[in-house]
Amino acid sequence: MDANAGIEVTLQQGTPQEAHVDLFAFTTFGDPSKDSFFKAVDSVLGGVLSDVAKSESFDGKSGQSMVVHTHGRIPAKRILVVGAGARNEFTNPHIRDIAATVAHAANKASAKEVSFVIPALGGNREHQLVQHVAEGVLLGTYKFGRYLTGEDHKRPMPLARFGVFLDSKGKKPTPAQAKAFTTAVTRGTHIARAVNHARDLINEPAAIVTPVALASDAQAIAKKHKGAVTVTVFDAKKCQELGMGMFLAVGKGSDQEPRFIHMTYKPAKKPKKRLCFIGKGITFDSGGYSLKPSQAMEDMKIDMSGAAAVISAMDAIAMIGSENEVHVIAACCENLVSGRAYKLGDVLVSMDGTTVEINNTDAEGRLTLGDAITYARSKVQPDELFDFATLTGACMVALGPYTAGVMSDNDNLVRSWMAAAERTGEDMWRLPLTTRLREQLKSSVADMRNTGDRFGGAITAGLFLKTFVKDTPWVHVDMAGPASIANARPSQPKGGTGFAVATIVEYATRP
Ligand code: BES
Ligand code: MN
Ligand code: ZN
Repeated sequence: MDANAGIEVTLQQGTPQEAHVDLFAFTTFGDPSKDSFFKAVDSVLGGVLSDVAKSESFDGKSGQSMVVHTHGRIPAKRILVVGAGARNEFTNPHIRDIAATVAHAANKASAKEVSFVIPALGGNREHQLVQHVAEGVLLGTYKFGRYLTGEDHKRPMPLARFGVFLDSKGKKPTPAQAKAFTTAVTRGTHIARAVNHARDLINEPAAIVTPVALASDAQAIAKKHKGAVTVTVFDAKKCQELGMGMFLAVGKGSDQEPRFIHMTYKPAKKPKKRLCFIGKGITFDSGGYSLKPSQAMEDMKIDMSGAAAVISAMDAIAMIGSENEVHVIAACCENLVSGRAYKLGDVLVSMDGTTVEINNTDAEGRLTLGDAITYARSKVQPDELFDFATLTGACMVALGPYTAGVMSDNDNLVRSWMAAAERTGEDMWRLPLTTRLREQLKSSVADMRNTGDRFGGAITAGLFLKTFVKDTPWVHVDMAGPASIANARPSQPKGGTGFAVATIVEYATRP
């Protein structure tokens, strides 16, 4: 069970500064001396807040926070003020990091009960904010601690109740507001749990999260949603019958058996659209005979982050419910070196018949995805097809470590996908699918080769996939950067991030 599963996010009523809690938290947009709520609390506390703000140079910038003991001047034991930055730059998902900051401060102060005042942003944003608060609390208190043996890692988290005030003036919420609050918290909780589940799958070593383990995980999710979600798992023999020559070649060098996972969610009513989400599922990428240097290999257990995202998202989609039929596909295997491994110069026959000359065994993701795409196109025939892959270092060179590269030749589809990403706050940026770069994939012995040259590496990978997609409306998300991070932020600890889960769920349940 999640370490933070016991935290409850509740709607709090009454005058915020009178709440009997261990920690009372609120935000300021920039300079606190211009914030009327800050001033009101400050005067109750006899000017302590503004004194501390001055001495700690707290000026309400994003990322700043300050804690003050109240010494009985108000019922709350401590006050936490969190900087929210400039009001006009604040988008809804920013509240996630703020809520996570509050949750961290609570645990640090051994606070069991917290009250938090949602910033007044106008418009009809409060329930969107509430959803992100619920997410932020659960995402921020996520910890991958399974292998830490110290006593302090085993202690349960102090934080138990995270109360939310919709309004700083103590106005009583209407029944409609209370209902919308519960819906938003439920939605946020399902999403955050799915993100944290993806993080677990990514953070577990490759020795544990094998292709077989990923298949069991998908089966457990299907079992949980009996009647709505089904799953089919193919072993190597079945994949051979289906002609998945590219997928099988990549996994040949490993003693871990490959698994091809296909999950289906069917809504109770006639579905609006049929969506298909494919995730790259390389449980470890050594590079194969185009072996990676040790440093580049160190983090390659994360190369199944796409599969982790789509499988975990399915759980939240089934929890929340969707009007669409949703398919999730992951071709899972391990890219290793051995006497059986595929080699440079090999010519592979893909499921759609295209032949591919291997000039780099480290460009394995596109091979597994190519056959997964052909399977999806021919067996699922989706209205819309998406793939998520830690595909190229080149994409990180182009966009940095926090932004995914999005490629598509379908302007309408990519626009609605990007709109969903905007709502969830996941960082994505469109790259062109420059068709002229296809010249790099020419081969003299086969229909194409699997890698181009150094320049435009993210795009040539996208063009390789496009070969198998043909005319299906499709969006490709290269998430090599944001799938895992070295520098934490409040709602994202170091390691696997669970990137793409939130946007997949958003798109599938609220297109
Ligand atoms: N899994 C890697 C891409 C990757 C790199 C993901 C860094 C996360 C962090 C992928 O399979 C790979 O090795 N790509 C090669 C492609 C090249 C051989 C054309 C790369 O980026 O170097
Ligand atoms: Mn690789
Ligand atoms: Zn890879």
